[in-house]
Amino acid sequence: MKSLRHLFENNKEWAESIKEKDSEFFTKLSKQQAPKYLWIGCSDSRVPANQIVNLPPGEVFVHRNIANVVVHTDLNCLSVIQFAVEVLKVEHIIICGHYGCGGIKAAMENKQHGLIDNWLRHIKDVARFNALKLQDTSEDNKFDLLCELNVIEQVNNVCNTTIVQNRWKDGGELSVHGWIYNIKNGILKDLDMCVSSNDEL
Ligand code: CO
Repeated sequence: MKSLRHLFENNKEWAESIKEKDSEFFTKLSKQQAPKYLWIGCSDSRVPANQIVNLPPGEVFVHRNIANVVVHTDLNCLSVIQFAVEVLKVEHIIICGHYGCGGIKAAMENKQHGLIDNWLRHIKDVARFNALKLQDTSEDNKFDLLCELNVIEQVNNVCNTTIVQNRWKDGGELSVHGWIYNIKNGILKDLDMCVSSNDEL
């Protein structure tokens, strides 16, 4: 049996380093979580939610999947959004894509990748909805542009869920943001796609 002992050692060091700064950190956090942000991002190992925005445990509620897709029939993602909005009452939902996304790249290819092709269909749909914009872009920029367009599409999808619609109807404060992360320099870019009401949508 392989025990991955080094990860447990890492974990002990990490917990100790936090307790050095605040000995009550975990005790306080164990009693409740009150994150203000729901992060919906890609599963890519290079795009870790908390680290990118430099926030400690307890500050970000996170859902990740391949290519940060929000599908209206995905009970997993919808349950996360419902819990975050209705129970935790997060004030911001951040859809964060990233340049160089393998899921987006695979969706642009005309070959099979197995089961995942069924998931990537959603990205192919985004490309189809935006065919004109993509057509007018150089080959080099198409990949980056589709990564951005996918974020914008998913912001729309989040806004159109019954969960977000009902929150806005009840006068709740909730903004949905579209961001993209550059894996080459670690910098986030706001896609200026922030929606806080149906009027803005
Ligand atoms: Co990705």
